[in-house]
Amino acid sequence: MTVAPGDAASAFAGGYVNFGYWEHIAGHSTVSDRVESQRELYRITLRELDISGADILLDLGCGQGRGTALALREFRPARAQGVDAIGDRVQHAVATAPADERLSFQQGWASSLPCADGVVDKLVSVQAVQQLYDLDVFASEAARVVRTGGLISLASFFAPPSTGDMHRVPHMNRLLEDGCCWAYPVEQLITSLREAGFDLLHVSSIGEHVWHGFDAWLARTDFAERDAGTAGRLRGRSARLLRDHGTPLMSCPAMHDDADR
Ligand SMILES: C[S@@+](CC[C@H](N)C(=O)[O-])C[C@H]1O[C@@H](n2cnc3c(N)ncnc32)[C@H](O)[C@@H]1O
Repeated sequence: MTVAPGDAASAFAGGYVNFGYWEHIAGHSTVSDRVESQRELYRITLRELDISGADILLDLGCGQGRGTALALREFRPARAQGVDAIGDRVQHAVATAPADERLSFQQGWASSLPCADGVVDKLVSVQAVQQLYDLDVFASEAARVVRTGGLISLASFFAPPSTGDMHRVPHMNRLLEDGCCWAYPVEQLITSLREAGFDLLHVSSIGEHVWHGFDAWLARTDFAERDAGTAGRLRGRSARLLRDHGTPLMSCPAMHDDADR
């Protein structure tokens, strides 16, 4: 479907809720482009994990589970488990996911993951970290469930380094969709992960392939017409506020073991 100028379109599409990765998407005008951009954000985050056929993959903040299903379909781990705090989204994921015993979804919190110690080989999270209330708690839970030698890969958006003093930046907090987003300095997440026992492998900014495409898409939606409410904040404040420092993609090998913690 092509969105004509003036037509209302959703900021998100296809059951995904992320800003998208637009590097290889030529147009910004169809709903298919928009869905593909969101798949691409999953793909580039998943590629960091070097997933093998023996891996148990956990998708934290899986939303409606489309990215979890993509991970199983395209990256072929032994199993893919999606976890999300919002029960309705998990139920939707269960109801709409392809029937496959290797794919499962559970309601759960980043602060209390529904997984036994060390059972996860690879953990992915796409645009959910910015909604977590306590990065230290998340990092220690990730360290608990990811086995020694496992990997995590996270894509999210963060506050500029200049604002960072390793604490939350209250005046930059913004409500997006139905949840609260925090503009954390990326260094704060790095510190939390290191203190939990992860050894940081790679951090890069992918913002140049996120914000331009997402802005172009938003301009085609009814969000662009509003000046108040969630959509107004998304375009008028958060996107502009956050765009310059990009969307870092991080991958962190879990080098921890009990003795290290
Ligand atoms: C922006 S959506 C991204 C969904 C999906 N990863 C995607 O890219 O389409 C963020 C998701 O993280 C979930 N989430 C936020 N805080 C969470 C927490 N503390 N524990 C588990 N999930 C959480 C939200 O419910 C939401 O579905």
